[in-house]
Amino acid sequence: MSYPSRVKLVDVGPRDGLQNEKQTVPAAVKIELVHRLQNAGLREIEVTSFVSPKWVPQMADNSEVMAGITRQPGVRYSVLTPNLRGFEAALASRPDEIVVFAAASEAFSQRNINCSIAESIERFAPVVEAARAAGIYVRGAMSCTVGCPYEGEIAPERVGYLAGLMKGIGVQHVGVADTIGVGTPLKVQRAIEATLAHFAMDDISGHFHDTYGQALANTLAALSMGVWQYDTSVAGLGGCPYAKGATGNVATEDVVYLLQGMGIDTGIDLDALIDAGQYISDFLGRPTQSRVAKALLAKREASVCDAV
Ligand code: HMG
Ligand code: MG
Repeated sequence: MSYPSRVKLVDVGPRDGLQNEKQTVPAAVKIELVHRLQNAGLREIEVTSFVSPKWVPQMADNSEVMAGITRQPGVRYSVLTPNLRGFEAALASRPDEIVVFAAASEAFSQRNINCSIAESIERFAPVVEAARAAGIYVRGAMSCTVGCPYEGEIAPERVGYLAGLMKGIGVQHVGVADTIGVGTPLKVQRAIEATLAHFAMDDISGHFHDTYGQALANTLAALSMGVWQYDTSVAGLGGCPYAKGATGNVATEDVVYLLQGMGIDTGIDLDALIDAGQYISDFLGRPTQSRVAKALLAKREASVCDAV
C-alpha cells in the first residue's frame, strides 16, 4: 500500500472549533490563535464564517478577526460564505479561499442553512461565480456524507449526487465531511469513492469529526486511497451548532503525530502546535481533546520534574 509523501492540513479550529463555543471568545484571542497556528507551520487556516450572527453568534466578529491577522506570506486564509450577502461581506477581508457548504442530507441542509439541497446550490451558484471572477479559490464542504443527526445513515449515491451538483456550479475542491463523527473506515472510503466520480484526487479533502473516536482510523483509510488534504482542529476543538452532541474535528496534533510516525511530511512543528492548542485550551478553561498533546504535555512535565 502506498501513502502520499506529503499531506496538507487545514486547521479549522478558529472557525469549526470555536463556532459552537458558548462563552464569548474575544477577537483578540482568535487572532492570537491564528498567529500561533501559522507560527507552528500551518499553511492554511479556516479563520471564520460570514454567516448570520443570529444563527452563529460566535462568528459575528468575522471582519474584525480577519482584519486583525498579520498575514504570513505563503499562508492561505479561508472563510465560510453561505450566500451572496456573506460573500460580499467577506470580500473586504480579502480571503484567499471561500467555502460554500451544503449537505448530503436534506434534513441537515434545512436545519443548518434553512433551505433544501437544491435551493442551496442555487444560492451558491452566484457566490461561486463572483468568487472565481474575483480570483478567489472556491472550496465546497459536503456535510453528513456518512451519517446525519436527523436522517441516520447516508448512502454514497447521495454524496455523489451532491458532489456532481457542486462540480456543476464551478466549485473547485470539495471536502468530504463526517459532520457527526459516526463514520468508520469503509463507509468513509465509499463516500470518497462517490466523490471521485466528480472531482480529482487532488481536489478532495477529508473533514472528520471525532465523536465516536474513529477520525484517525478514517484519516488512515482516506490516506490509503491517496487523499492528501485534511481539515483538522487544533486541540480537537469544536462541533456544529446544528449537529447536537457532535464533537470537534480530529485534533491537528494527533494527525501530525500519525503522519510524522509514517514519515509523511506536513511542515508542521508539533511542539509549537501543542503550545497553540494549550493557549486556546487554557483560555477556554478545559483540557485539550488531543491525546497526543496530553501525552506530550505529561512528558514535558515529567522532564521538568526530573530536572529539579
Ligand atoms: P435565513 O434566515 O434563511 O436567511 O438564514 P435570510 O436570508 O432570511 O436572512 C435572515 C437574517 O439573517 C436577515 O437579517 C439577513 O439579513 C441575515 P434580519 O432581517 O432578520 O435582521 N443574513 C445575514 N447576516 C449576516 N451574514 C450573512 C447573512 N445572510 C442572511 N451571510 C443563513 C440563512 C444561511 C444565513 C443561515 O441559515 C445561516 O447563517 N446559517 C449558518 C449556519 C452555520 O454557520 N453552520 C455552521 C457552519 S457549517 C459546518 O460547521 C459544517 C462543516 O464544518 C462541515 C461538516 O463538518 O459537516 C463546514
Ligand atoms: Mg465540521
